[in-house]
Amino acid sequence: MRFVTEEEDHVFDRAPARKLPLIQRGEGIYLIDSEGKKYIDGSSGALISNVGHAMPEVIESIVEQMKRVEFVHGTHFTSESIKELAREIAQMAAGDLNRVYFVSGGSEAVETAMKMARGYHVIRGNVQKYKIISRWQSYHGATLGALSLSGRTGSRKLYTPLLLDFPHIVPAYCYRCPFDKDGESCRFECARDLERVINQEGPEYIAAFIAEPVVGATLGAVPAPEGYFNIIREICDRYDILFIADEVMTSFGRTGKNFGMDHYGVIPDLLVGAKGLGAGYFPLGMVVVKDDIFKTYKEGPGKFNHGFTYQGNPLAGAAGLSVLRFIKRHNLISHVEETGRYLMDGLLHFKKYRIVGDVRGKGFMNGIEIVKDKETKVPFDVNINANRKIFEKAFSRGLILYPPDNTGNVDGVKGNAFLVAPPLMTTRQQIDVILNILDETVKEVDKELLG
Ligand SMILES: Cc1ncc(COP(=O)(O)O)c(C=O)c1O
Repeated sequence: MRFVTEEEDHVFDRAPARKLPLIQRGEGIYLIDSEGKKYIDGSSGALISNVGHAMPEVIESIVEQMKRVEFVHGTHFTSESIKELAREIAQMAAGDLNRVYFVSGGSEAVETAMKMARGYHVIRGNVQKYKIISRWQSYHGATLGALSLSGRTGSRKLYTPLLLDFPHIVPAYCYRCPFDKDGESCRFECARDLERVINQEGPEYIAAFIAEPVVGATLGAVPAPEGYFNIIREICDRYDILFIADEVMTSFGRTGKNFGMDHYGVIPDLLVGAKGLGAGYFPLGMVVVKDDIFKTYKEGPGKFNHGFTYQGNPLAGAAGLSVLRFIKRHNLISHVEETGRYLMDGLLHFKKYRIVGDVRGKGFMNGIEIVKDKETKVPFDVNINANRKIFEKAFSRGLILYPPDNTGNVDGVKGNAFLVAPPLMTTRQQIDVILNILDETVKEVDKELLG
C-alpha cells in the first residue's frame, strides 16, 4: 500500500495538529500499524471493540447479510436480522425491558431516549414535562441534546450557548464524595440530591433522569455505591419521572454482567446502549424500553415522531447478532466476571505508587485515578496533562489506554484517570502482559512527576 504524503492528506482528523500512526490490520486484541508495530488494545478503543478486531467468526455473517440485502429504509421494511437481534437483547435485558429502538450510535441513542421520554409524558397528558436531569462529570454524547445532559465541562464549555438549560446533580463519586462522607457516614446524600433538584425545578417539568451505572471516561470507571440506584428509582417513581440508564459503555458483558444496572438489581425505564453492540463491526445503538412505554406509543398515537436514515437496517441487525452470538458462544460474560477479578487484583498493586490515588471498576471496565498527593488527593496541574504522559509511555510500549488527555474528574477541569478495558476475550496471560507494561509505565511517570 502506498501512504499519502502530508500534501496529499485531505482528512480533517480529530486533532489535526497531532500525527496519528496509520493502522493496517487487527488481530483479536491486537492492532498492527503500518510500521509493523503491534499494540494491545487495552481500552478496546473507547470501550467499543468488545470482541476484538477482524474476527472472522464475526465478519462472516455480516458479509452474508450484505450479499443478500444491505439496506432497506425503516419506513418501508423490516428484516429478519433486526427482529432476531431485538429478541436476543430483550432476552438479555432485565424485567419488562422488551422493546428495542435501533439507531447508529450512542449519541443518537441518547437523543432518542430524550425525545421518547418527553413524548411518553405528553401522550399521557403531562405536557409540561420536558426537562431531563443528569449528573456532573458524566458523558452522554456529542450531539447538542446529549451534550446538554453530559456533565463533562471540557466538552461543554465551548458550546454552552447552544445547549439546553437542563439541571445537573452531583455524581456518585465516593473517592471524592461531594458531601465529604465516607463508607460509615454516607447516607446517600448524592442520590437524595436528585429530590432536592426535582423540587427546586418543579416536578411537573421533569421528564427523566439519566445516569451511567459506571461512569466511564469522565470519572474513570466509577461505579455507583450499592444502594444508590434503589434510592434513585424510588425518587423517580415518586415524581413520575423516567429513569434512563446510559449503558453505552457498560452493556453486553463489559462489566461482567449483561448490563451495568444488573449489578444493582434496579431496572431502568429506558436503557441506552451502543459501542459494544456493534463492537466496531458496524455503527449500532439502541434504546430498550419497558412494555408500558411501548404500549403508550402503540396504543396512543401509534407512532414515535423521530427517525434516522440508517436506523435498524439489516446489516446493523446482522452485525449486532453476530457480536452477541460470539459473546454467547465463547461465554465471554462469565469470563469477564471471573477474569475481571484477576485484572482488578493486579491493578490494586499499583496503589504502591505515589501517583495512584484510587483503583476502581467492574469486570473489564477499570480505572486508575492519578493524583499529585495521595494524602490530600490533590490532582496534578492541568498543564502537566498526566493522562497524556501515561498514555504516550504506554503507547510507545505497545499498550493502548483511554482517554489520552486530562479527564477533569475532580471538578470538571482538573483531574486525571485512565481506563483499563481490554476486549472481553482477553486471557489471563494477556492480562499479565498488560499489567507488566502498565507497571513499567506508571513507575516511570511516578518518577518523572514526583522525582
Ligand atoms: C456513557 C456514554 N454515553 C454516550 C456516549 C456517546 O456515544 P457515541 O460516541 O457512540 O455517540 C458515550 C461515548 O463515549 C458514552 O460513553
